Amino acid sequence: MQDMPSLQGRRVVLGITGGIAAYKTPELVRRLRSGGAEVRVVLSRGGARFVTAEALAAVGADVADDAGHGMPHIDLARWADIVVIAPATAHLMARLAAGAADDLLTTVCLATEAPVCVAPAMNRAMWQNPATRANHAALLARGVLFVGPGEGLQACGESGPGRMSEPAEIAAFLERLWGEAGALRGLLAVVTAGATYEALDPARGFTNRSSGKMGYALAAALADEGASVVLVSGPTTLAAPPRVQRTMVISAIEMRDAVLAYRDTMRLFVGAAAVADYRPEAVSPRKLKKEADTLTVTFVRNPDILAEVARLAHPPFTVGFAAETEDLEAHARAKLEGKGVDLIVANPIGEAGVGFGEDRNRVILIDKDRTVAWADAPKTEIARGLVREIITRLRRNAPS
Ligand code: PMT
Repeated sequence: MQDMPSLQGRRVVLGITGGIAAYKTPELVRRLRSGGAEVRVVLSRGGARFVTAEALAAVGADVADDAGHGMPHIDLARWADIVVIAPATAHLMARLAAGAADDLLTTVCLATEAPVCVAPAMNRAMWQNPATRANHAALLARGVLFVGPGEGLQACGESGPGRMSEPAEIAAFLERLWGEAGALRGLLAVVTAGATYEALDPARGFTNRSSGKMGYALAAALADEGASVVLVSGPTTLAAPPRVQRTMVISAIEMRDAVLAYRDTMRLFVGAAAVADYRPEAVSPRKLKKEADTLTVTFVRNPDILAEVARLAHPPFTVGFAAETEDLEAHARAKLEGKGVDLIVANPIGEAGVGFGEDRNRVILIDKDRTVAWADAPKTEIARGLVREIITRLRRNAPS
């Protein structure tokens, strides 16, 4: 294991709730302690069904529980530099969102002034349920930090989002939180990525060649700087970056609704998605039959998500992309002004090896004062550069 100097001397209250992933928590305790952190565990009744107090004590944690063992809630709440809940069940998230204080762990969470960090673990349908989505949004809005969940095969045999992040990922998240990176700590960023898909009938629809690579690289780079990142993604096979909350959508209207759920809380919006400007006016419930020689489809305008965000009463710092086949700079500047955004990243369509679907991109940054062209580079590198630009601008705009 790598050295984790940023964990040295940190006091971590680890809350364990009732999920199968609780069996991994002795490994988490071991990692945190070998990085120099002190760990006190609050073992809920549910958690105790999956891991024993003895196993946690054996790796060096003090253990408190609802039976009155260990420190009382106020002492734990004051002692903590952070409260980490891993695994956090859907029920725990609901109780946190409601402000419940009906056991030791929720009482500590309510009483502490330290940050609370949640590592969710649940069945994918429970994670995607609108009730859990709403609790997640409410907790994010209150500044609760999230690590994971990851995606993959679950204990119930299903596959999808809801796996608890691995102990190494949780430890790395805390290290980053307290380490040097973290210029965007505490800032909620919403990023759109990929193409939207506008259905014509149950079998067919209209989409474009965006792979999502640019938006996913940006989401990862923002998370690396400590931002809480919500990635609203069109259909893609890309995996969600670590520490990023991903919401999958299909159409532009779904993407808009997913973005505007954060209208009051996001402080940064990055529109990297290639959103369809139009959708078929009517979606046939049945597969269209090959009858006539020609087929005419009427399209209607989709909402412009970027423009709507930029026009909010209290807009976040807003970054848009512009993909153009010609007059890149002129069209992009028109978008900057027309949509009222803070920064436009213009990229060409149709140049070999860059842009749509490629691993590399070539961009021109345009704001109200200047235009700066960057050499082509991997999207991951461009994303890190863009995040540095965003940090500079946010600092410039910050009230002194
Ligand atoms: O996904 P990749 O394969 O990695 O490719 C990356 C990319 C080329 C798709 C990306 O870098 C990019 O340019 N994204 C924006 C593409 C686009 O649709 O540009 P536009 O000029 O049509 O839109 C301008 C801006 O308005 C974009 O920020 C777009 O997200 C936003 N928009 C557009 C239409 C709409 N209805 N709502 C929007 O929010």
